[in-house]
Amino acid sequence: MRILAVSGSLREGSFNTSLLRAALEAAPEGVELELWEGIGELPLYDDDLHGPEVPEPVRRLREDWAEADAILFATPEYNGSVPGGLKNAIDWASRPQLEAALRSKPVAVVGASTGQFGALWAQQDLKRILGVAGARVVGTEIPVSRAHERFDARGRLLDAEIFDQLRLHLTTLASEAVPAPDRVAA
Ligand SMILES: Cc1cc2nc3c(=O)[nH]c(=O)nc-3n(C[C@H](O)[C@H](O)[C@H](O)COP(=O)(O)O)c2cc1C
Repeated sequence: MRILAVSGSLREGSFNTSLLRAALEAAPEGVELELWEGIGELPLYDDDLHGPEVPEPVRRLREDWAEADAILFATPEYNGSVPGGLKNAIDWASRPQLEAALRSKPVAVVGASTGQFGALWAQQDLKRILGVAGARVVGTEIPVSRAHERFDARGRLLDAEIFDQLRLHLTTLASEAVPAPDRVAA
């Protein structure tokens, strides 16, 4: 089972990327989590760029996201919602609609912010956006508030409770990503 981990932050010292690195360690047996980077290389969504030859970063996004069994997103909150770059990536991955990389893809969200609410609004918006884009949204939010207090200087997660929540989240996501007949047989 291969799950992609996509951070909505481009920042070098991003707490959201650190959260995904913790998720890599929290992954249950049989689940391989892989950080995916590439959001910053995408052009702004433009319907006119559609056609047989899309820009290379778009091609890579669509291929990588389509091949993953599931995707875990970590989103910061910018002015009460998801960062524009993350929304842009989702827009690209939602077209062409019938063969979109996100179509029926099991996805889950987590989020960290330095504020008190742990990017809760951004996570709620992200779940709604992913659902509209055709993905199968699994699980609830994991709001990591006051993120600057929950990671050490090297970006390692200090909070055991959040670590356990990540493991549970990934277990749920992985179980949803198993093809239906296998799930019944298991
Ligand atoms: C443009 C901008 C808007 C922000 N708006 C919010 C917000 O609405 N709510 C919040 O909790 N934090 C907000 N923040 C603070 C972010 O939560 C904080 O910068 C966080 O560390 C970003 O995530 P990252 O560490 O993964 O880059 C904002 C930060 C920026 C740069």
